[in-house]
Amino acid sequence: MPDLTFEALGKTVLVHVELPDEESREDVSELERLVETAGGEIAEVIICRRDAPDPSTFIGSGKVLEVDDCVKNTNAQTVIFNSRLSPAQERNLEKIFGIRVMDRIALILLIFAQRARTYEGKLQVELARLQYEQARLVRGWTHLERQKGGFGLRGGPGETQIELDRRALRERIAAIKRELDTVERRRGQNRNLRQKNAVPQVSFVGYTNAGKSTLFNTLTAAEVYVADQLFATLDPTLRTLNLPVIGSVVFADTVGFIRHLPHDLVAAFRGTLEETAQADLLLHIVDASDKRLADNIEAVNSVLKQVGAEKVKTLLVFNKSDLVENSSYELVRDDSGAPARIYVSAKTGAGLDKLLSAVSELLSANIVAFTVKIDSSEGKLRGRLYSCGAVTREEYGEDGFLHLDVRIKASDAAKIDKTCDGALRRACGLKKLPWLANDDFDFDSID
Ligand code: GTP
Repeated sequence: MPDLTFEALGKTVLVHVELPDEESREDVSELERLVETAGGEIAEVIICRRDAPDPSTFIGSGKVLEVDDCVKNTNAQTVIFNSRLSPAQERNLEKIFGIRVMDRIALILLIFAQRARTYEGKLQVELARLQYEQARLVRGWTHLERQKGGFGLRGGPGETQIELDRRALRERIAAIKRELDTVERRRGQNRNLRQKNAVPQVSFVGYTNAGKSTLFNTLTAAEVYVADQLFATLDPTLRTLNLPVIGSVVFADTVGFIRHLPHDLVAAFRGTLEETAQADLLLHIVDASDKRLADNIEAVNSVLKQVGAEKVKTLLVFNKSDLVENSSYELVRDDSGAPARIYVSAKTGAGLDKLLSAVSELLSANIVAFTVKIDSSEGKLRGRLYSCGAVTREEYGEDGFLHLDVRIKASDAAKIDKTCDGALRRACGLKKLPWLANDDFDFDSID
């Protein structure tokens, strides 16, 4: 595992192995972009085909010689494999080539380490890196027990060293997790405050480089770091925007997703990604000009599923439509008539007004407006409605009751009704809150 510092990759030889297994097939051009993003210079790309990886060198002795020649001829400083290498394969190859060897995951971790900007982002990256090392040490350990004294492996005293390394790693991982818990709790408190104030949240998700930050900046005029590089954004950034009808809306920019994101990384970024599961609406940003568009959508959906966000209402935003011929910048609705897909360009601004109207429309579907009549005994209900900013008008009626015009998220209305023992239903003169009854709302599910 290379040191994850800002140390340049330098001249890099890429090795792409095509295996029959579809799952492990990666894109060469994506690896090239990843290397450039990490600041490397591509010296040569070597492509080969194998039925199965060679256990000690991944590519087999003939291909090893070819790569070694290429390393010497180009004066390369790094060799990167577009696959996952075992620790033993990595060590063996480093010994032969005499330079640093990395796999695709180590490269992704390096980029994440270079890009993390906030304290939380840095902690998350370090956690992912240590967990990755830990998994490799565990594998190295079992491997070692099976094949003591094998080529390039430490035997005897090496075992004790590995034990020590494992303990040091465990302790550091525990310390980072504790610190992350504190940071995440603080973020959770801020989120609770926003929820209490009934401010809807719109989260931007998307395959890396789809243009999330550019769109986020254009819409919110915020200064989020934008670069033509993969993973430019690592930390969630929040901005508030005022939308007609809806009022204040929090927009959140999130991490860029990538296919076959290492499990450790998804786990480390869980805190950040789980924010997306709490959102009222997801804007799934897609690069309309990318030929792997369908695969990218699929990769993002799979991460959303892993963090429990697959049920959040989503609008697909086809960005970079300026790069697509005859783009119509139209809003496409689904069978129920709700906005489903929209074509925009964050660069030229085309389609952005329609995008904001679609966001308002989708958010307002969650919001209900009604008038309640309450008497002086229902002070608790009145207090709750005010504390979440739901009351838009209040006046005393000639009937002696207080009349409140309320605009509120349907789920918040249900929560308030539950905490006030059905007072909201009584005040509306209803046995059920009808907009929730339509959704088969289960009142008992509310905490
Ligand atoms: P990650 O942080 O890696 O997830 O990337 P991102 O999705 O936030 O992408 P970012 O906003 O950094 O944009 C990536 C590149 O695409 C930049 O070079 C942008 O200038 C470019 N870009 C963004 N939107 C558009 C667009 O509508 N049209 C064109 N032509 N380029 C765009």
